[in-house]
Amino acid sequence: MDGSRGDRYKARDSSIQSRKRKRTQCLSNVLFSIIKPDATRRNLTGAVNAKLEGAGLRIVAQKRLQLTEAQAKAFYAVHKERPFYGELVSFMISGPVVVQVLEGQNAVAKNREIMGATNPANAEPGTIRKEFAESIEANSVHGSDSLENAKNEIAFFFSESEIVG
Ligand code: CMP
Repeated sequence: MDGSRGDRYKARDSSIQSRKRKRTQCLSNVLFSIIKPDATRRNLTGAVNAKLEGAGLRIVAQKRLQLTEAQAKAFYAVHKERPFYGELVSFMISGPVVVQVLEGQNAVAKNREIMGATNPANAEPGTIRKEFAESIEANSVHGSDSLENAKNEIAFFFSESEIVG
């Protein structure tokens, strides 16, 4: 390399590529999470996050927003034949949500443990849903059930530049 402008551009470009690669590698164990309207209404965002962080998950992206009906319908489209679909959509737009990307070793499995069973009546003591959920519908949190779904769900709400590992 002779220090010419072309070489400096190449060097900078490869350093950007290497940072991007590192970021993608460290985000290989991620999941998507929602703090639902029943929890934001009761000011429980910090309490939920304390459970997630206390168990070793890192919040690498987070934003609070009001879902539109179209967004809620599209996000839960997999459930559209279920009898509870309409109520689920109405509930998810009944107040603000906090959407998040969480990172950690075995993140999907770990988050399932931290959340507890979908129905709080069946959740283990100490889990988010046992402590905070009001019902099977108002169950405080959603978490991706697989890495594959996590990637799709993350792409639904976040651009790559918003995820900072
Ligand atoms: P979540 O993990 O967000 O994925 C789908 C949601 O549908 C689930 O959490 C519950 O909140 C909701 N759900 C699942 N089963 C029922 C049910 N039988 N009645 C009402 N809501 C349900």
